[in-house]
Amino acid sequence: MTHTYHEEQPTVLVLDFGAQYAHLIARRVREARVYSEIVPYDITAEEVARRGPAALILSGGPASVYAEGAPHMDAGLLELGIPVLGFCYGIQEMALQLGGAIPKTDIGEYGFAELTIVEPECELLAGVPEVSQCWMSHRDSVGTAPTGFTVTARTATTAVAAMEDPARRLYATQFHPEVAHTEFGQQVIRNFLHEIAGIPPVWTMVNIIDETVALVREQVGEDRVICGLSGGVDSSVVAALLHRAIGDQLTCVFVDHGLLRLNEAEQVVRTFRDQFHIDLVHVEAEERYLSLLAGVTDPEEKRRIIGEEFWKVFFEEATTLEGVTWLAQGTLYPDVIESGSKTAAKIKSHHNLIPFPQGVHFDLIEPLKHLFKDEVRAVGAELGLPDEIVHRQPFPGPGLAVRIIGDITHEKLELLRLADAIVREEISAWDRDREVWQYFAVLPDIRSVGVMGDERTYGRPIIVRAVASADAMTADWARLPHELLARMSNRIINEVDGINRVAYDITSKPPGTIEWE
Ligand code: XMP
Repeated sequence: MTHTYHEEQPTVLVLDFGAQYAHLIARRVREARVYSEIVPYDITAEEVARRGPAALILSGGPASVYAEGAPHMDAGLLELGIPVLGFCYGIQEMALQLGGAIPKTDIGEYGFAELTIVEPECELLAGVPEVSQCWMSHRDSVGTAPTGFTVTARTATTAVAAMEDPARRLYATQFHPEVAHTEFGQQVIRNFLHEIAGIPPVWTMVNIIDETVALVREQVGEDRVICGLSGGVDSSVVAALLHRAIGDQLTCVFVDHGLLRLNEAEQVVRTFRDQFHIDLVHVEAEERYLSLLAGVTDPEEKRRIIGEEFWKVFFEEATTLEGVTWLAQGTLYPDVIESGSKTAAKIKSHHNLIPFPQGVHFDLIEPLKHLFKDEVRAVGAELGLPDEIVHRQPFPGPGLAVRIIGDITHEKLELLRLADAIVREEISAWDRDREVWQYFAVLPDIRSVGVMGDERTYGRPIIVRAVASADAMTADWARLPHELLARMSNRIINEVDGINRVAYDITSKPPGTIEWE
């Protein structure tokens, strides 16, 4: 039997019927302080019984229950006596399994809908006002609830917007309680978890830390572990967690490619060596990288060189350390689900494949593989990592190399670092900076004429990029106040010698990307 992560913890299993809904549900359950995991929709009743979850949730999904090849669950799951809650596709699947009617009306319902409660004494919707707003996204819907169920809510077009059968502990909604547009969605989820399934809200960051620490100790015993540090959130939290678990058995290797932002490398060293007293190998490889990158202008080529060199440097260090058998990695839960799920759309390839050199092997330890990004940040804060690391904006692995168009030189890096520091300082001081997802400076490969004092200049421009986004898949350029733009422009031109123009990028994504390369 494989060792599962939270054997002691009451767990909710979210059956994944497709797309990104299951992720969101798992996150909402965890926000209600109950541990949850995503499992494929076709998990058997036997397997579920063996794992003994405290409740099951059936996710939504894009398919019609009648579609050829539509995902169907093991009907035995509804007979285990475990509380089950179905959303959207989940309500239809439940109705289909239990003999309800799902007429093909071809009348869908997409977006906001007014939810009216028709059974005020119901359990699932307890505390939700008689009329509230919910979010719908479906074509078919349940016309007649299966025998034993009470219909508890409707909308103008959906007769069975919610139903329940408390005797069998089965509950379902046609709407999506997990999306923020459903006004009382989290209330519905909390009702189900805490009141109906009786699971107390006890899952906290402290639990995560204590359990991970115990698990890591059990896994590595007296062995030594190596961890690559980049300055990013994930590797920083891995390092801090492992240090808490195994102290001196951990060595961190920070491959400093010289392409980080102003003062970032110093901060990594200060945090891990001085604050945490971690055994840190700081490899200052800027010269090595710059000579490899000299004259290279193609963005893909730059990325390739930087990526390959990282592993070369890392393994050079790793293989000189005595007795290290484990390699720690900052894989997160979404990476695990995306590469392992049957139904979730494969948006990104599993990017964590490690190119071990010939004859070299380490066992992998991935202490964050059950966590979402916001949980990783919370763990980092709880462990005492500084805010600059915990709330660091996304930053490409190849660093400033992707923000310098054309070839990379020491001089260009210096210019960009200074200008970028001003952009970050000014926007972070703005009172609405939380609305901006990411902001930075870009150095393009052109020069233009200007005039400063009485002198003609022939300098470089800086492009300021600031975007609003929820997930970096799409983005809109941030509507920064003109005064803020003016201040950045003045400061950059006055303080960064060699820059004589500042431009603001007003392109959204698509058609642009967030980064310039
Ligand atoms: P684009 O430019 O494709 O970027 O719109 C989307 C998001 O991804 C970040 N990004 C990276 N993150 N390694 C990373 O960890 C990379 O190589 C990389 N390249 C782009 C980018 O900053 C944005 O948030």
